Amino acid sequence: MKVLVTGGTGYIGSHVVVELIKQNHECVVLDNLSNSNESVLDSVKKITGIRPTFYKADMLDKAALGKVFEQNKFDAVIHMAGFKAVGESVEKPLLYYRNNLDSTLNLALCMKKYGCKNLVFSSSATVYGKPESSPVNESAKLSCANPYGWTKFMNERILSDICNADKSMNVALLRYFNPIGAHESGLIGENPNDIPNNLAPYLIKIIMGELPKINVFGNDYDTPDGTGVRDYIHVVDLAKGHIAALNKLATNCGLVIYNLGTGKGYSVLEVIDAFSHAWGKQIPYSFAPRRAGDVDLYFADPSKANRELGFKCEYNLDDMARDSVNFALTLKKARQKNQ
Ligand code: NAD
Ligand code: UD1
Repeated sequence: MKVLVTGGTGYIGSHVVVELIKQNHECVVLDNLSNSNESVLDSVKKITGIRPTFYKADMLDKAALGKVFEQNKFDAVIHMAGFKAVGESVEKPLLYYRNNLDSTLNLALCMKKYGCKNLVFSSSATVYGKPESSPVNESAKLSCANPYGWTKFMNERILSDICNADKSMNVALLRYFNPIGAHESGLIGENPNDIPNNLAPYLIKIIMGELPKINVFGNDYDTPDGTGVRDYIHVVDLAKGHIAALNKLATNCGLVIYNLGTGKGYSVLEVIDAFSHAWGKQIPYSFAPRRAGDVDLYFADPSKANRELGFKCEYNLDDMARDSVNFALTLKKARQKNQ
């Protein structure tokens, strides 16, 4: 298949591109590089031998997007471009609604105009808000706690309505749980420029020597060790889930919704332990108050993706920690060499 990957130089996008190429799909990457770097494609080439065609374009720019569709006949689009920082979305809601909604609307218009019928969309477990219980399945009640979450909720709504109105459209809404880890080569992974809000990139910065210690937000949750429990999924497993979803779309399935998670929850302390073990050194941490908006525990019921896509995660927490540490140390070495 010829696949357009929006947000393809980003953290998850770059891993999806690698898996697409490995499965012999033709990949075209579109990104405005607002949160990534074009050099990621050199790493993709090192891993796969292929540097995909790249368009530096903003999805808000209708003309630029139209040109990409004019020049290519896509069988499917994997739409991952978007802003994702929860705190920033609370401070700048307009920026988030505009970027995350207009990009999808512009894309849907182009797909309609150029007859592209298959779309995989990056949604998030954030659409479950504070789940009443775990494991959470796809029919759980939806509710969101911040503008970022609402953009995912609204995008799901928009794409569902488009699918309902046009029976020839196929859309997979993938609700990611907590993607962490990196490609085993250490060449691609998540490394934000600013101080990270999320757990794994924060630990990566500590291993790189850029941050001294981590604050564990809350140790009085109703969980076995008192710290928050999440369903961490290796980014390579997550990427493979996109290929499985593309295969599903090829069966003309209409709208489908899948959780992508492992079905297992790990606490913050368990994650810190796994990273410390993989690093061979204790990650320094101290306890801090709970973070506003955090939930004590949630993890996926992944059985629908398992049943309908044949999708099952292969990597466990130790694998995620090993590959994250390898990525951090590879990056640190490359930076030292360039100094
Ligand atoms: P990322 O920031 O690394 O990648 C997103 C990419 O989109 C970036 O390369 C950015 O430059 C690009 N982008 C943003 N706005 C754009 C625009 N208007 N036009 C073109 N490119 C644009 O983030 P990620 O972690 O790879 O996330 C990918 C998708 O998955 C996002 O939609 C995110 O909301 C969703 N998601 C991520 C997580 C997570 O924990 N990482 C969890 C659930 C869902
Ligand atoms: C967060 C977002 C969620 C988003 C997801 C992926 C919030 C409230 N939720 O999820 O909407 O979909 O990222 O982008 O922001 N932790 C620490 N110290 C840290 C960082 C995190 O103890 O410095 C803890 C958190 O309290 C939580 C766990 O680690 O218990 C995981 O946190 P994080 O990686 O931010 O993911 P989520 O909170 O699950």
